[in-house]
Amino acid sequence: MIDTAIKISEYQARRKKVLVALKGSVGLVMAGDGAPPLRGEWFPNFDFKYLTGIGGEPGAMVLFDSTNPDPKKRCVLLLKPVNPEMDVWDGYRDLVTEKLRQSTGFGAIFRTNFLPRLLGEAAKRSKSMSCLHPLSTYTQPVSPDLEIFQKLTARIPGSTIIDQSQLLTNLRMVKSPAEIKHIRSAIKATAEGIDRVLRAAKPGINERQLHNALLSGFTDMGAKVVAFDPIVGSGIRSTILHYKENDQATAAGDLMVLDSGAEINGYAADITRTIPISGKFTKRQKHVYEVVLKSQKAAIAAVKPGATMMQVDAASRKVIKDAGFGDYYLHGVGHHMGLETHDPGAHSVKLRPGMVVTIEPGVYIKDEAIGIRLEDDILVTKDGRQNLSSAIPITVKDIEAAMKLKPKK
Ligand code: GLY
Ligand code: MN
Ligand code: MN
Repeated sequence: MIDTAIKISEYQARRKKVLVALKGSVGLVMAGDGAPPLRGEWFPNFDFKYLTGIGGEPGAMVLFDSTNPDPKKRCVLLLKPVNPEMDVWDGYRDLVTEKLRQSTGFGAIFRTNFLPRLLGEAAKRSKSMSCLHPLSTYTQPVSPDLEIFQKLTARIPGSTIIDQSQLLTNLRMVKSPAEIKHIRSAIKATAEGIDRVLRAAKPGINERQLHNALLSGFTDMGAKVVAFDPIVGSGIRSTILHYKENDQATAAGDLMVLDSGAEINGYAADITRTIPISGKFTKRQKHVYEVVLKSQKAAIAAVKPGATMMQVDAASRKVIKDAGFGDYYLHGVGHHMGLETHDPGAHSVKLRPGMVVTIEPGVYIKDEAIGIRLEDDILVTKDGRQNLSSAIPITVKDIEAAMKLKPKK
């Protein structure tokens, strides 16, 4: 039930930080509900996963009740009741015992039918409820904790609702050493996949064959899932930002954008390389490629504590604009990465040591079938930055050299 790649004590420390930051206010973080789909895996809300490591418990919740007189009940795990008839379909679930409390690191575990009573008591004592889930726009459903808190304020005179929706984002943005270790492993697996594509690519090969070569590298390195659907787009498809059919034949002279990431121990990598399918860039391709590479270098150099991704974006965009390709740079410079490929984190946030961001400028000239994106994963350090994916070939010379190598047996 628990992803033990992160120690139970680290999950407990994360929850403690939330309890302290809530300053006596009540909070509720829900995993979300839903049956396991036939295709793919059911995923909990990532804030819930971050706080518990628990993956396979739809309907589970964490209740933060910091004013509870019993210290063991200040942080409570709620799980849906066991239903033996459903378990035959979806997997056998544990009963609430001391063993489960030990293995989850929660002092108190209740079934979700106790929520109205536990939450009601907590809210009456505290008179304050904090929204921890992201707030939704008015076209979306009200966020799940706010929906419940609104019902409670109607029943508890003098109680109020506070916006703490940035709290978990702020915690998640700075990665712990254990998280960085898993991100490094995900990058290593992704590097293996990319290496296999570089060796296998040749004119006429189908994008799907290269997609499969990529995945074989990921799984041989221990990845069970991809962090996101890979993009393996050649020719005109290199200019489609979210192309994912990956099923067309490549042709001599094509460029190919390869944007992918393995997931290891719940953590993502997100790396893009652009390669000439024939093994050698044309003069024009090389010219645009060098501009994107220069832009990426400028952006990476701008990553440091205190800088914002807005400033990093500007550094990257200036290079591309000065080279005359400004209108072909269609997206932002990058994003935070961790449990999710697109981890939460605004571009206005000042970077701090331990944050991990992608840097991924691109130029997409549809009329020339030239799509080029270069993406690396960057750790913010005390003194500046470390490019975690720098071992993967990226210069024209290194890409062309790597493509000359034969597939490994
Ligand atoms: N592949 C998604 C991204 O690079 O953000
Ligand atoms: Mn990407
Ligand atoms: Mn990305």
